[in-house]
Amino acid sequence: MRSFVHTADPSRVIFGAGTLERVRDEVERLGGSRVMLLSGGSHALRKDTERLRDVLGHLVAAEFAGAAMHTPVEVTEQALSLLRERQVDCLVAIGGGSTTGLAKALAVRTDLPQVIVPTTYAGSEVTPVLGETVDGRKTTRSSPAILPETVVYDVELTLGLPAAASMTSGVNALAHAVEALYSPDATPVTDAMALEAVTAVGRALPALHTDPSDLAARAELLEAAWLAGICLGAVGMGLHHKLCHTLGGTFGLPHAETHTVVLPHAMAYNAPAAPQAMERIARALGVPDAPAGVFDLISRVGGPTSLAGLGMAESDLDRAAELATSQPYPNPRELTRTGLGDLLRDAWQGRRPEGAPDLRPLTDEVVASFDRCTNPRLRQLLTDLVRTLHVYSIRNDLTPQEWQRAIDFLTEAGHITTDTRQEFILLSDTLGVSSVVDALTNSRTPDTTSSAILGPFYVAGPPAAEHGSDIAGDLPGTPLWADIRVTDREGEPVAGAVVDVWQSNEDGFYDVQLPDLDGPVLRARFTTDAEGRFTFWSILPSAYPIPDDGPVGRMLSTVGRHPYRAPHVHFLIDAPGYQPLITQLFVRGGAYLDGATGQRDTVFGIKDDLITDFVPRTGPTPDGRSVDGEWRLLDFTFRIARLDG
Ligand code: BEZ
Ligand code: FE
Repeated sequence: MRSFVHTADPSRVIFGAGTLERVRDEVERLGGSRVMLLSGGSHALRKDTERLRDVLGHLVAAEFAGAAMHTPVEVTEQALSLLRERQVDCLVAIGGGSTTGLAKALAVRTDLPQVIVPTTYAGSEVTPVLGETVDGRKTTRSSPAILPETVVYDVELTLGLPAAASMTSGVNALAHAVEALYSPDATPVTDAMALEAVTAVGRALPALHTDPSDLAARAELLEAAWLAGICLGAVGMGLHHKLCHTLGGTFGLPHAETHTVVLPHAMAYNAPAAPQAMERIARALGVPDAPAGVFDLISRVGGPTSLAGLGMAESDLDRAAELATSQPYPNPRELTRTGLGDLLRDAWQGRRPEGAPDLRPLTDEVVASFDRCTNPRLRQLLTDLVRTLHVYSIRNDLTPQEWQRAIDFLTEAGHITTDTRQEFILLSDTLGVSSVVDALTNSRTPDTTSSAILGPFYVAGPPAAEHGSDIAGDLPGTPLWADIRVTDREGEPVAGAVVDVWQSNEDGFYDVQLPDLDGPVLRARFTTDAEGRFTFWSILPSAYPIPDDGPVGRMLSTVGRHPYRAPHVHFLIDAPGYQPLITQLFVRGGAYLDGATGQRDTVFGIKDDLITDFVPRTGPTPDGRSVDGEWRLLDFTFRIARLDG
C-alpha cells in the first residue's frame, strides 16, 4: 500500500489561443488598478510586450524590462524601488523563467498578486518556489506568497519561441515530469499529470521539429509544461535537477540546454532503482527503454546531446561529481562519486545510454509501406498491428529462437486445423481475444441478454426440429426439458426467431468430434411461435476439456492451465429486424464457474447473467413424457435488441 500527502496549489489558469486579451480582466479580478509590467527586454518578445501594454492600457503604472537569469537580488531591489515609488498593486510578467522569477521575488517581498504570461515551457509559473542569487550564490525558498495567483497561457505567444529553444525548453518540462514519477513525494495525482506530460512532450517535440508553427503541437507542449510545472511544485526533484543546478551555477552552463543533455543520463543512472517509473515513461513514449528513448527523442529533434558541445571542460567533470554528491538529497538510487563521475563522462561525450537500438525508423518504414492501401480501416489495422508487434519484440528483447518457436507454433496450429478442428479459434479463445472482441461488439446493447463467444463447434444450418422434440437422440445423460422464450427489450415476444442450439454430450464431446456417430445430434434449429417460445428435450451438459492434443493444449499445460469449459448450452438467435445474439447458458453450481478457486472456464466465456438454474426435478414432466428418476428444467427468456436500437 502506498501512503502520501497531496496538496493542490491554488492557481487560476487561463489556457488558449489569443488569451493575452484577457490579462486586463484577470488583473481587475484580483483588484489591481496600478500594474507593474515586467519583462526581460528580449527583442523577440518586444511586439508581444507592446500588445500586453495595450491590453492593460491605463492600468500600467510602471514598467520594468530588466529581468535577468537566476534572479539576482540587485535587480529585484531596483524593481522594488520603482514598484514602491509608483504605488503598484499588481504584478504582470511576460516571458520565460527569469521574468517569472522576478515577479515571484517581488511578490514575496510585497505580497502583491501576480498574473504571469509564460512564453516558454519552464513551468515555474505554477510553483511556490523562488530561486535567487545573492552575491553570485543561488538560494531557494518556498512560500505561498511566491505562488502566482493567475497564469495566462497564450499558445500564440509560444509561436515566437525559436525552434531550438522550444526543444530544450520542452525537454526541461519533460525533466520535471520524469523526476516527479520517481519522487518519494509522488501521489496518484502527480503520477497522472506527469505521465500525461511525458506522452504529450513525446508527441509534440517531433511535430514541432517538422513544423515549428504547428499550433496544435504548440498547445500540446504548453499544456504539458503546465502539468509538469504542477508536478515540479508539488513534489521534490532528484538527481537530475541537482546536477543541472550544479552545472548551471558553478560552471555557468546554459539552463535548458543542460537539462536536455543531462536528462537521459540521470534517467539511466536512476533506472535500476526506479524500474516502475521507467517502464511507465517508456510506455508513455512508446519506446522499449526510457533513458535510451529520451536520448533518441532529443537527437531526433536536433537537441544538444553532449556537455562538451555546451562548452564544459573535461577537467571540470570530477569537481562537478564531487559537488553533486557533497550534500545528500532524496533520490531513488544512492549517489556515489564514481557513479556520478561515470554519468557525467557519458553526458560529456554524448554517449547514448545503453538500451535497445532505436528501431523507430524501421517501424516507420514498414508503416509507410501501407500508404498506398486504399481501404482506410485495413491500413489502420495493419499499421497498429505492426507498431504493436515491433514494440512487443523490442520490449521483450525477443531472440531469433523465440520468434522461430512462435512460428513453429503457428505452423503446427495450421497443420492440425481442418473443417471440424479449428486450432486458431482455440488460440484466440484461450488468449481471451475472442471474449475481448465479443465484449467490444456486444457490450453496447443495454437491457439485453449478454452475448458469449461462438466457439469452434458451431455448424451452420443445423437440422430443423419440432417444438418438444428430443435433440439428444439415444445418447445417455440426465434428461433436460428446455422452455425458452425470446422477447425484445420491453419483454414483447419475438415470433419467428430462428434459434440454433448446440451442446456437448455427457462425455464432453460435440458430434463433429465423433466421426462414428450417426448424423447431427445435440444440435438443432427451432423457430419461435407467436409467443416467442419453443421447447425441447436434451441432456444436462457437463464440463469438458477443449481439444488439447494440439499446440494450444501444450501451451495450456506448459503454463499450468487446465483445458476445461464450464458446462453450458450454446444458442444463436436470429430474428428479422433484430440484432443476432450468440450466447451460452451456464449450469449454476457447475464446475469451472468459480473465479475464486482460479479454476474458471479456460476460454473466459462466462458472464454472470448467463449462469442460470437447471432445476433438478422428479415426477411428471411438462409434456407427459415418462422419466425415471431426476430430470432438469431450464426455463429462460432471452432479450434481444432491435436493429434500429
Ligand atoms: C465451445 O464452447 O464449444 C468452445 C469454445 C471455445 C473453445 C472450445 C470450445
Ligand atoms: Fe461449448
